[in-house]
Amino acid sequence: MPPLHHHLRRKFRLRSRLAALRVKNVLVAMVFCLAVFYFLNRSDNTSEMVLLERHMNSGPSSHPFIPVKSSVDWGDIEYRYPPRQQLAQLPNPRGRGALPRIQHRFKKESSEARRIREERRNTVLQLTRKSWASYRKFAWKKDALLPLSKGGVDQFSGWAATLVDSLDTLWMMGLREEFDEAVAAVAEIDFGSSTSQQVNIFETNIRYLGGLMAAYDLSGREVLLQKAIELGDLIYGGFNTKNRMPVDNINFQAAQEGSGLVIENTVVSASPGTLTLELTRLSQLTGDPKYYDAITGIVDLFYRDQNRTAIPGLFPMFVSMLREDVTTGGTFTLGGCADSLYEYFPKMHALLSGADSRFPALTRGFMDAAKRHLFFRPMVPQNADILMSGNVNVDPAGVPHLDPEAEHLTCFIGGTFALAGRLLESEEDVEVGARLTRGCVYAYKSFPTGIMPERLNMVPCKGDKPCQWDAERWVAEREKRPEYKPHLPLGFTTAKDPRYILRPEAIESVFYMHRITGDAEWVEAAWDMFQAVAKGTATELGSAAVLDVTVAKPELPQEDYMESFWIAETLKYFYLVFSPPDLISLDKYVLNTEAHPFLRPRP
Ligand SMILES: *[C@@H]1O[C@H](CO)[C@@H](O)[C@H](O)[C@H]1NC(C)=O
Repeated sequence: MPPLHHHLRRKFRLRSRLAALRVKNVLVAMVFCLAVFYFLNRSDNTSEMVLLERHMNSGPSSHPFIPVKSSVDWGDIEYRYPPRQQLAQLPNPRGRGALPRIQHRFKKESSEARRIREERRNTVLQLTRKSWASYRKFAWKKDALLPLSKGGVDQFSGWAATLVDSLDTLWMMGLREEFDEAVAAVAEIDFGSSTSQQVNIFETNIRYLGGLMAAYDLSGREVLLQKAIELGDLIYGGFNTKNRMPVDNINFQAAQEGSGLVIENTVVSASPGTLTLELTRLSQLTGDPKYYDAITGIVDLFYRDQNRTAIPGLFPMFVSMLREDVTTGGTFTLGGCADSLYEYFPKMHALLSGADSRFPALTRGFMDAAKRHLFFRPMVPQNADILMSGNVNVDPAGVPHLDPEAEHLTCFIGGTFALAGRLLESEEDVEVGARLTRGCVYAYKSFPTGIMPERLNMVPCKGDKPCQWDAERWVAEREKRPEYKPHLPLGFTTAKDPRYILRPEAIESVFYMHRITGDAEWVEAAWDMFQAVAKGTATELGSAAVLDVTVAKPELPQEDYMESFWIAETLKYFYLVFSPPDLISLDKYVLNTEAHPFLRPRP
């Protein structure tokens, strides 16, 4: 078996990596909440203008960073398995206006609403500054900050993951000096040397390539595109295989020799499925179709076989790029290992402005199957009408069995449903997205720290009957769970992994719901979540993961690790919820799975 443990979840496989780092257990707490309703949302109003002005005032010419070329020219490798002569071309761009509007039309807010919103936004800004300042001081150019021991650690090849991941957040927050300093550091990154022999293609793609391209889209700094191309060419080299399908880990030495890479036997489905958006954007930015050409084999395969799996519409958690097999396997989830495969179907539809009809079909197919098989209404004390997404195992007889297990990673799905609902003009799916997002908000609120644990179990309502709280049934169900603990809130049967590791997915969905529906409930939920998270994760230096969010204590036990996605995603989504809704409008940008916004092309 290949080292599948690398992939036990999106945004890394934290488990294995962190275990290796011995920073495994952590705690945290967050919060959010309150209100602000209506904003002016005309496409070109103030904050977008401010962004633009900043862009003009300190455009490329005033910061002529000369990129230091990486010590390996990844664009000049002679491949043993080159692409076919005729490269696939990007479909004709119709322009983002060809698709339905995504964002709610916000009304002008009152001055009181604005005051509250700005106050909250500033609170998020201050926390981000603190985290960034600590990274800068104690972990500069390292991949991540160790927020308790005041050091840094490399786990993503040593190319300053937190720095690259944070670029667009710094820009959005108007932290111009910090941004300029970080761009100067980016100019010196050497993608020709790596701290690890195996370079994970998924993480390199979503964090580094996504981060560089988004920062370029926002700022126009040429050096960012130059570095994105260097790195994109390394990732492109991951397709130097017999069947032109990608590897999961790029062997750094073999990649330089161009002698051909050996594809793993099986990989998590998110690994090949999450290269599409970034490589398509790189072709759009450079005009070079080779990156887009590389991902067409993956798209063809998933599209061809979507209806041939044990649950038509969904794909098994593990797939084989070696055998071009995406149908064998009986485990289905929208959570870790699979998540962004699905997330990218509607996002590709948005980035291509609807020019490839396979993406809405893939989107429709997975959403219908997920509603039928994976989503469940949990039985909870006040009979709240919420949804969670669980896992399904299909037995050898073909019968699906639901495991009502929710994970923080799966909380992205509410936002994806709302986004896809707008793109496919299905308000019913926007509403499903709202119920899914309320499920995660409910989980946050239920625990005494105000934070949802990494992984938990609940009790699904039965069939179509009205779902009345039944304490006896809860007791009976929890007795089947060795992981049950008497301190768990009503309705929960486990908190199998009680940590909070600074993850973004719940606030990500709250952000989408807010931008798409404009309902005040989401801003309130966000402020509650922000306050709980800020409090629980607080350290002298910034924020750290929390080991157990199921027990409230004055000081929660923490883990010595600050993930790069804390600034890249979690703090960014909080900040955007409390910003005017035209800052990174979803009608102009599509965000990758690491919250990096790519400009959707104009016609
Ligand atoms: C898969 O099945 C769905 C539902 O029957 C259908 O609408 C869709 O066109 C099918 N997709 C493909 C690629 O055949």
